[in-house]
Amino acid sequence: MTLRQKLSQLTQLDSSFFLKYGTSELTGPLHGMNIKEEDVACCGSVLGAIGADVTREIQEKHLAADPLKIPVLFMLDVIHGFRTIFPINLGLACAWEPETARQAAEISAKEAAASGIHVSFAPMEDLVRDPRWGRVMESTGEDPYLNSLYSAAFVKGFQGNDLREPDRVAACIKHIAGYGAAEAGRDYNTTEIGLNTLFEFYMPAYRAAVDAGAAMAMASFNALNGVPSTANRWLLNDILRKKWGFKGTVISDWGAVEKLRMHGVAKDRKEAAYKALNAGIDIEMMTSDYLQFGEELVREGKINEAEIDAAVLRVLDLKDRLGLFEDPYRSASADNEKLLLLCEEHRKAACEAAAKSMVLLENNGILPLKKGMRVALIGPFAEGKDILGGWGCTGRFDETVSVYDAVKASGYFSEVTAAYGAGFDGADDAELEKAVKTAENSDVAVLLIGEHQDMSGEAASRTDISLPAAQKKLFDKIVKTGKPVITVIFSGRPLLLSETAERSEALIQAWFPGTEGGRAVADLITGKTEPQGRLTMSFPRNMGQIPLYYNAFSTGRPVTGENPAERYLSKYIDSPNTPLYPFGYGLSYSHTEISGVSCEVSGDKATVTAEVKNTGERETTETVQIYIRDMYASVVRPVKQLKAFKKVRLMPGESEKIIFELGRESFSFYKEDGDLHFEGGR
Ligand code: BGC
Repeated sequence: MTLRQKLSQLTQLDSSFFLKYGTSELTGPLHGMNIKEEDVACCGSVLGAIGADVTREIQEKHLAADPLKIPVLFMLDVIHGFRTIFPINLGLACAWEPETARQAAEISAKEAAASGIHVSFAPMEDLVRDPRWGRVMESTGEDPYLNSLYSAAFVKGFQGNDLREPDRVAACIKHIAGYGAAEAGRDYNTTEIGLNTLFEFYMPAYRAAVDAGAAMAMASFNALNGVPSTANRWLLNDILRKKWGFKGTVISDWGAVEKLRMHGVAKDRKEAAYKALNAGIDIEMMTSDYLQFGEELVREGKINEAEIDAAVLRVLDLKDRLGLFEDPYRSASADNEKLLLLCEEHRKAACEAAAKSMVLLENNGILPLKKGMRVALIGPFAEGKDILGGWGCTGRFDETVSVYDAVKASGYFSEVTAAYGAGFDGADDAELEKAVKTAENSDVAVLLIGEHQDMSGEAASRTDISLPAAQKKLFDKIVKTGKPVITVIFSGRPLLLSETAERSEALIQAWFPGTEGGRAVADLITGKTEPQGRLTMSFPRNMGQIPLYYNAFSTGRPVTGENPAERYLSKYIDSPNTPLYPFGYGLSYSHTEISGVSCEVSGDKATVTAEVKNTGERETTETVQIYIRDMYASVVRPVKQLKAFKKVRLMPGESEKIIFELGRESFSFYKEDGDLHFEGGR
């Protein structure tokens, strides 16, 4: 390979470049990026091509044009489903079932592979503490232990045991590192994370993906402690590659190499290319600085060609592991698409996952609803099908089951009516009136409200995470009818729900539940399925508490009671410290009691036993959670840390003895050196 061909291998372009083959002059994107057709011919990977027909066409044309005949890699953001859309990741996490995430990723991989995709830019495992940040929807929450389990599960689901299997795709752990700590919740903002916090909270989930064999990693947009990740050799080389033993390919985020100039750490594009190459970015996504300046950098001795070779080998190795040299098309075919995309089996899995992801926050006993009632479904998500959530990939609204469709089809109620009520920008009086009338003519109003899906996700940070004003107005009008109100919230983040909770008879957090979301809501309110979700992100009472998370470090002036009289404590004078709903919280339609908790310590191992009993009248699933607190150590420790959990399914009156074994690792913690330390003590 010539040096230029190697640099092309390290360049990722979107599909628009390739579909121009043979017909193009140097105009459009080619022109803008100042690259030649022979560069495109040797390009290593393609972003965002969708459909077997398209990927096959590009691959065919590429192989005809590339003198080296090296197949291209197709990469795409398959975040929570490909065509069958699962709940957003924050919802999936609330199932407290990594196996469900593994299954969702496996199904997504099958569908994506049938369309010709080789790499999914997932899992996103940025730990989150600030619901203002729009991308909390892509994360699995605020706990490093749970995030790590999910991270590994997603990787296993995408990749299986052998990437060569044609229905598997490579996983790409992102965004390394600490992107979720964007200051003030503003996307792309800088992050300042102390090294102990970085290693203890933010790094474990990335590392779990590395240990699970993730084939790729993506560097984050943000500057971490003053150094943009794209230029951070310590992060990508010393930690990711050397300390964690990552052998895969590292890609920049979209256009991030060039953005080093905006960060103010590269004076020009040549220095940006140098810094990214030197830091360990193998593939430059959607800019062409490597191609423009790579040869010069090698000529000048700034970059050693051996380093470029190593990066190219990592890209070629990934192609080899995926079996592309034997079959550049793998399972991509229109027939496979027809067979697999949104097939019944996938829909069923998405429906189960959606029901498990929903969290029952309040219930005064009204849920599940009684058979034969007259029910009014009110709000933009009653008949609305835009419930897939951000990063809905190739999911389609016309294939999505709305709440209205599903409730009607259930045949459970004597009458089902629906009204839109209000949108997100403003409320129309006539629509509001219609909604009020609809509620008045029913026995119960189910309000399906929240934020529009475009209000979360990338570049969708909010300074106020309340319900949009028009939605609040609708809520108020319906509550004032005096009819019992059940509120179902659709959102990509925790919202401020104090008032909604107080004035509703029951409250369900439905997230953005995906293709089968409507059916999942119908199954829950009719009691066909039991609510079992538990939050993985704290719900604050007010904006001022943010960032709010359960596993905070202890302070020297802690609050012990809820409303302590003493002034000089770590607290607010106008709000409790506690969240509205804490991490791990969620109700079900039954009740459980935990008794006989005991803990035996022998050597480095603690065995915790407990009995959990279903004391209610319905079958239920309880998620028993074990937290520890290290009372004394050489450094400050969190007030609470999740270390194990178990989901137990119980019939009414049934009980089960559960045993948790916590080993040395549960009591060890990361320090600034990035290593696990074990200290004795209570
Ligand atoms: C996002 C990444 C994503 C990439 C490619 C970026 O804007 O930050 O998460 O993988 O685009 O679509």
